[in-house]
Amino acid sequence: MKVLIVGSGGREHAIATKVSQSSKVDKIYCAPGNAGIGQIAECVNIGAMEFDKLADFAQDNNIDLTVVGMDDPLVGGIVDVFEKRGLRVFGPRANAAILEGSKAFSKELMKKYNIPTAAYETFTSAEDAIKYLETAKMPIVLKADGLALGKGVLICNTLEEAKAGVKTIMLDKQFGSAGDKLVIEEFMTGREVSVLCFCDGTTIKAMTSAQDHKRAKDGDQGLNTGGMGTFSPSPFYNDEIKAFCEEKILKPSIAAMKSEGRDFKGVMFLGLMLTADGPKVLEYNARFGDPEAQVVLVRMKNDIIDVFEACIDGTLDKIDLQFEDNAAVCVVLASGGYPEKYDKGYEITGLENFEGKTGYYCFHAGTALKDGKIVTNGGRVLGITAIGDNLKDARKNAYEATKLVNFEKKYMRNDIGKAIDEI
Ligand code: AMP
Ligand code: GLY
Repeated sequence: MKVLIVGSGGREHAIATKVSQSSKVDKIYCAPGNAGIGQIAECVNIGAMEFDKLADFAQDNNIDLTVVGMDDPLVGGIVDVFEKRGLRVFGPRANAAILEGSKAFSKELMKKYNIPTAAYETFTSAEDAIKYLETAKMPIVLKADGLALGKGVLICNTLEEAKAGVKTIMLDKQFGSAGDKLVIEEFMTGREVSVLCFCDGTTIKAMTSAQDHKRAKDGDQGLNTGGMGTFSPSPFYNDEIKAFCEEKILKPSIAAMKSEGRDFKGVMFLGLMLTADGPKVLEYNARFGDPEAQVVLVRMKNDIIDVFEACIDGTLDKIDLQFEDNAAVCVVLASGGYPEKYDKGYEITGLENFEGKTGYYCFHAGTALKDGKIVTNGGRVLGITAIGDNLKDARKNAYEATKLVNFEKKYMRNDIGKAIDEI
């Protein structure tokens, strides 16, 4: 069969790699893709938000299945456009992707269905938000309602910071219309775990757990980024916590969406915090995490095409989802200066060192082909991923492998998976 993947990051490279291992797949296309994806798929120069052009391409090229990796097109309704044209597509429709597209929606849903999350209030007026903050306990968390490239969450330690945050989001509109509504929520503490789940509208099946490192610098310092590295599984997501989350969070979440007439098909990604009062939902995403996908999919035993098809057809209950009893670590190699100002266009050397190296993956995030050379083309450049028998081995292997590639201004965190040492 022919598969089209929509997106251009490390997550899409990980999805394409997993899809390429399916015996059912003859040809993979990726729109728009990147230099690494181009080695296993044919990259098509159509943007992820050009729904009609993508659907035309799928129709003209007899694509059997389209897989959407990114949040923007999902929230924008790409699945609805494909379905209207009778094209098979993996991902939630717009009315379900709103779970990621609107934090106010997801908070209301959790309140209505008693899904554990931080206490919150929603505001449409900056004046009301500031009035509320004046009597609130600090620190406090401000969240722009809509999509903001993972940057619309501000953790404020003082009233002054919180007031400035309201201005940034609601008045200066730093995140555009994503800031028309503001969610103000209670600050929680605890370990974070990412749980990615396949969903077919009725059934939800969790993949193995992972943990992201969102801050730019070692010791969780610096600005929030798209994610600087991950490990899987999370040893903190033990059997007891897992059982609690399955019953109190995962199943109620898919059932809640169904009751609302918003059947969720695709990947529901729960960002959880393991607090002293039990696990609580930080956020929902409507797609694979990036770079969570890089460490989860390399451990998955199933043919991913079977799972995608089951999600679309409503037969996920028949799938026995299985993961290897090993571990994986992904260390992101970024361009110095990310997530603020950084340069692009530096040649990347050493990529050939990954060829034929079992258990090692060099997922491309921001790369491009220029004059026959692969160059840096984004803030997050590569996701160096390695398998190990356990987390410590996987981490050692991943950091060893970061030495195999080079480019000017190469930057990485040196403490991805450091929490493993505490167990
Ligand atoms: P989100 O995009 O909602 O996952 O938020 C991004 C990051 O902000 C999360 O991964 C947490 O590290 C942090 N965060 C979000 N909400 C809270 C909260 N209520 N309390 C503490 N930290 C939070
Ligand atoms: N790694 C977090 C995300 O994909 O949103």
